[in-house]
Parts: sequence; C-alpha cells; structure tokens
Amino acid sequence: MHLRSTALALALTAVSCIAQTPQPDARPWMNTALSPDERADMVVHELTQAEKIQLVHGIGWGPLREGAPVPPGNNGGAGEVLGIPRLGIPDLQQADSAVGVRMAAPESRYATLLPSVLGAAASWDPEAALIYGDVIGRELRAQGFNQSIGGGVDLARDPRNGRLFEYPGEDPVLAGVTVGQLIRGVQKNQIMGDIKHYAMNDQETGRTIVDVHATHKAMRESDLLAFEIGIRIGQPSSVMCSYNKVDGDWACENDYLLNQVLKRDWHYPGFVVSDWEATHSTVKAARAGLDMQMPGDEYFGKPLLDAVADGSVPQSRLDDMVHRLLRSMFAAGVIDHPPTPRFVVDPFKGRDDSQHIAEESIVLLRNQNNVLPLDPSTIHSIAVIGAHANVGILSGGGSAQVDAPGGNAISPKTPTSWNKPVYFPSAPLRYIREHAPQADVHFDPGTDLAAAAKLAHSVEVAIVFADQYMSEGSDSLTLSLPNHQDDLIRAVSVANPHTIVVLVTGNPVSMPWVDSVSGILEAWYPGIAGGQAIADILFGSTNPSGKLPITFPRTESDLPHPQIFGIDASRGDAGLPENWTAKQKETSFPADYSEGVRFGYKWFQSTHRQPLYPFGFGLSYTHYRYSRLSVDAQARTATFTVENTGQRFGTEIAQLYVQLPAATQENFHRLAGWQRIPLKPRERKTVTLPMEPLALAGFNVDKNAWEWPHGDYVVAVGGSSSDLPLEIKTKLN
Ligand code: BGC
Repeated sequence: MHLRSTALALALTAVSCIAQTPQPDARPWMNTALSPDERADMVVHELTQAEKIQLVHGIGWGPLREGAPVPPGNNGGAGEVLGIPRLGIPDLQQADSAVGVRMAAPESRYATLLPSVLGAAASWDPEAALIYGDVIGRELRAQGFNQSIGGGVDLARDPRNGRLFEYPGEDPVLAGVTVGQLIRGVQKNQIMGDIKHYAMNDQETGRTIVDVHATHKAMRESDLLAFEIGIRIGQPSSVMCSYNKVDGDWACENDYLLNQVLKRDWHYPGFVVSDWEATHSTVKAARAGLDMQMPGDEYFGKPLLDAVADGSVPQSRLDDMVHRLLRSMFAAGVIDHPPTPRFVVDPFKGRDDSQHIAEESIVLLRNQNNVLPLDPSTIHSIAVIGAHANVGILSGGGSAQVDAPGGNAISPKTPTSWNKPVYFPSAPLRYIREHAPQADVHFDPGTDLAAAAKLAHSVEVAIVFADQYMSEGSDSLTLSLPNHQDDLIRAVSVANPHTIVVLVTGNPVSMPWVDSVSGILEAWYPGIAGGQAIADILFGSTNPSGKLPITFPRTESDLPHPQIFGIDASRGDAGLPENWTAKQKETSFPADYSEGVRFGYKWFQSTHRQPLYPFGFGLSYTHYRYSRLSVDAQARTATFTVENTGQRFGTEIAQLYVQLPAATQENFHRLAGWQRIPLKPRERKTVTLPMEPLALAGFNVDKNAWEWPHGDYVVAVGGSSSDLPLEIKTKLN
C-alpha cells in the first residue's frame, strides 16, 4: 500500500511536472495550421502595453551612425526592432538590399552585387526579376537577416533622379511586375520583403521637404499603379513610406496614401514602416496609418504610449500596428523558420545569377554596318579606353551600395562616404582580352584626350567605356555624361571610325556624339559579373536582347520639367541639397506634376517629340518580323506571330500597347503586356499575350473605382513603343 501510494505520488508529481513544462499549446500561436492573422491576434493578446510600444519602433541608428548604441545580438543592418523572447518573437533584423545586401564587409561577409534594378527591368523578364529577389533573399537568410528593406518602385518621372538605378523605370506596369516578382523572389526564402518609397518620391533634390502635387487620378494611374501591381504580385511584408510630402501632408502621415488607398482600397494587410527619419508626428502619423517608426522612437516610443493612454490614439490602432507586424512575420515564415547567420553565402551561384540578369539587360542601341559583334578571328588590335575598365566596373551609391569584395577596385580602397564611387573587380579589359587572345588589346585611362585619340588611331577598333556615378541624396543636374566624357568619345570617334561606346550609367544620358560612333551598348550598372557580360555581348557569345525600360531624351528641354524642382539656377549655385543653407533645407517647395500620367514615352508621344532612343527600344544581332495580329476582346488577349529572319539565335521582347477609346482624349499608348520570345534562326512562334486589366482602365475619382471606357481601343504590337507594325481597333469590354 505504502509502495503503491508512493508510486501514485510519483505519478502525480510527474503529471504536475509535465503540466509545468511548456506545452506545445503554451504558445498556441506556434500552431502553423492557424492563419497568420489568427496567430498574430493571439500574440497581441499576450503582450503588455510596453511590449506593444517596443514593437512599433526601432532601436535607433545602431550600426549606421558612429557612436549610436548597438544592442547585443544586432546583425549589422540598417534597422532593428527588438523582439519579445518570452513569447518567441524574434528581433526584426532589416538590411538595405536594393541591388544586393548592404553593409556586409564590416561583418566580414560577402554579398553579391546584382545589376541595377533599372537593368533588371531592361530584361523585361519576370523570371529574371524572381532570380534577382532570390539572390537577395538567399543571402539575407545566410547572413542572419529576416527582412529586406529594398523593393524600390518609384517611377522615373525625371530621368535625372539620383536613385533611378534602384528603380524599374518609367512604366507603371513594367515597374510593378518587375518589383512584384523581385519581392516574390526575396520572400521565397522565408524572408520578409518590402516595397518603397511610398509614394511620389521621384526626385532626390530636397527629398525631405519637397511637396508633390498631382491629381488623385494621375497618381492612381501612374506611381500608385506601380505600387498596386507590385503589392498584388509580391505581397510584401511591409511598405516603406517616403520622405516627401504629397498634397501638403508628409507621406508617412498621409491619410489618403496610407489609410484610404493602401489599407482600404488595396486591403493591404502588412505594416507601414517609415523611411529613416521620415516620421514627423505621433498622433497624426498613427491615425493616418503609419505602423512603425524607424530608426528610433522619438514619436512612437513614450509619446505614443502617452497618446494611447490619453485616448488621442485609440488602443485599437496600437493593437492594429502590432498585429500587422506580427501577421507579416508569421506569413513570411521568419518565426517558424528563423534565419541564423551560420550559412556561408554561395558567391559563385550569386555571380552566375547576376551575370545571367546582366546579359539579358544590356541594350544594344546602335550598330552601324554591323560593327558588332566583334570577330576575334579578324581583329588584330583593340583599344579599351576610360572608366577604369582595366580594373573594374562601377556600382551605384547611397543606401543601395554593396561592398566590393576585396574593397574598391580604385583608390581609396575604403570609400570615405556613402556617395563615393565604388568599382567592383570585374574588369572589362580582362574579359575582352579573353575573347580576343590573338589581338593586341591596349588600355588608356581616357584622362588625356590626345593620348586616347592617338591610341584609338593606331588600332582597328576602339571601345570607349563611359560611366556615370549616381547615388541617393542628389540628382544629376543634367542628362550629360560627367567628367568631359562626351569630349573623350568625340576625340576617339574622330580618330577611329570603328568606335564603340559602352555606357555604364545609372540613368539615361544624352549623346551629342551619337552619329559619329559605330556602336553603342547601354550596360547600366551591370553588377559583379558586369565585365564578363559586356565582353560576351561585344563578341557575340550572347546576342543582346535587353530593351529600354525608360526613354532616352535628347536634351533636358524636351522633358516635362526642363529643370528639376527646387533647383534655382538663378541663385548661382547648383542648388543641390548639400549646398543648401539650413533654412533652405527646412522650407518645403512644390513639385507640380501637372503632366499627370504623361511622362516618359507618354510625354514624348503626346507632345510629338522625338526622343534619342524610345522606351522599349533595343537592337539585336538578328532581326524579327511581326505578323498576323488578332485580338480576343472577351479574354482581353492578343495573338500574333514573330519570326527570327536572321542567322543567329535571339530573344525578342514583343510588346503590346493600347490606346484608350477616343472619348478619354488620351493621345498616347500604354504598355499592357509583353513577352520574351526565344527564336532560332528562321523560327517563327505564335504567342498569345494577356493584357494587364488596369492598363486598359481609367480611375474614376468620384466613384473611387477603376472604369473600363466604352468604345474602340487601339491594340498595337511590335518591338518598341515607336515601332508597332501591327495594329487593330477593337472594343475590349
Ligand atoms: C533611404 C531608404 C533606406 C534607409 C535605410 C534612407 O535614406 O531612403 O531607402 O532603406 O535610408 O538605410
């Protein structure tokens, strides 16, 4: 009996022990069978008020600013939000990752530099954009980050915008699809994605004070449409609101942008995070829909706690902020599958992916007398000139800057600030030599025009590399290449009739020398394998297929706004932000986008101007013929045939544009669909393209709804926005 009761007592103790050890259902939100929203609600229910506040702001500048406190466990990225370990909620470790993971070198890590996002858009390849995001997501995970804060989709309203290399061009549909796919690629790795900078952050000059004005209709059909499509496809965990004002209200406390459009009309379930120091208030921002202040807590720390206590911000709003963060964390998988910084990045896979995207993105703009591709069996001498092409290839700056393996390929090895050029060790000279082992390949830095011209004169082919460094925080004042490179190209082209220009630029540039050179390639910033990709195209091992995702204007005077807003040329100084007085830096100025949706190709078409190179343009080493267009009005698809009429394998990017019925009075095309079509010599394919429904619609502000106008649409198909050999007029509804 005694023994028995002892056994019973032991058994009871065991039971009570079991009851005390955490059971699976002690954290019921870890049940993956529940929806992210249900799981988030359970956690919100457990949180104290102080914990809720902790989840809606960052830890401060951390590793971004010297001297700022860095908490233990910080992963070395641009942002951190402390988690709630007692409930199993990890810290949010955010990394800038527009074109690859930023800030890797200080942690002795490696990150792959991808081509610029503008380059990725020039591939018009949703698969390439997916790979792009996959590289970023994979490397973020390997480095222990759980959120990307890339995903820039601001449209190229101004071709001089300093951050265009981070953005996918001027068309809302191409941009939205590109960035949506990129976000899918990131999130495929169970990493949280982001889309930014919401919204109308279309110039860097005075970006923290500029007050943008555009009609709601124009915004919905342009910049906001790019976000709408990007969010629909990518379903990013967060939306980053921007520095600028829109219609008098800061973007991060803008009820129209955040509450009305993003959360109500688009049913966006994730959280809105402010750009770094783009929060300007507590109550107004919280009520307007901002969910997280970054990087610090000036507004969403104690002041928010107090505002909820006194009722000026409802408790339900604070709970909603936290819910949105947590549901995004659950939905992405960072709670169930937390990344730990123990895996090594695979640099070879990253490089191969980067090269693949670069090869699809490089655009052949000019090819007189088929100067390209170069034939190594017949060329004996080549001059490579300029742009440090003997040591590396340029990358874009600012918060998108990726650290170069081994340091900057030019001096200084470690740049002194975030807006100093960094070259990556993919020297075009080396790969040109590899392609032409029998030729004498000489290099000239291009700094002495006479010396460069002399060398060019002595060889069969001169290849001038011309680059343009761009960085967050300022725009280019003009469309011209910097550092007298126009003069260099002119001097070389006078000395050698076989001059080829390779542009390594963040933005479109003007080309006053265009008619005097034989060949022109636009290589954007081509990434870690840029040298290889350029050489492969020059020598024809890759047939160029990229097409411009942005119009190349001839001059600034052809633009809707010949001068960037906020720049007062009459003041004598350039007016770029770093030159401004403290007062100028605080005083808002308007940017009136009176052109509405008519920028880029829509501007050039509707004002009958000829660009230097139109949107959608790009040559190939072969030729294509289009025929037999038909439209299925019910299904809203277009079917047509494309034939490769040349001798080489090539990939044509077929484009489908619509013009809305006459009653809308729109006198320009809208891109509605496209497809990359690989074709063997003489091969012919018939393809059917769906049309993006919103490209066919107008936004009715009074009804707050999209409408598909009645009447005949023009449906036009071809190889660029200004070369549309097939056309049909038809109703589409
Ligand atoms: C940029 C953002 C970036 C943030 C954090 C800001 O200056 O506008 O794009 O994510 O800094 O580095």
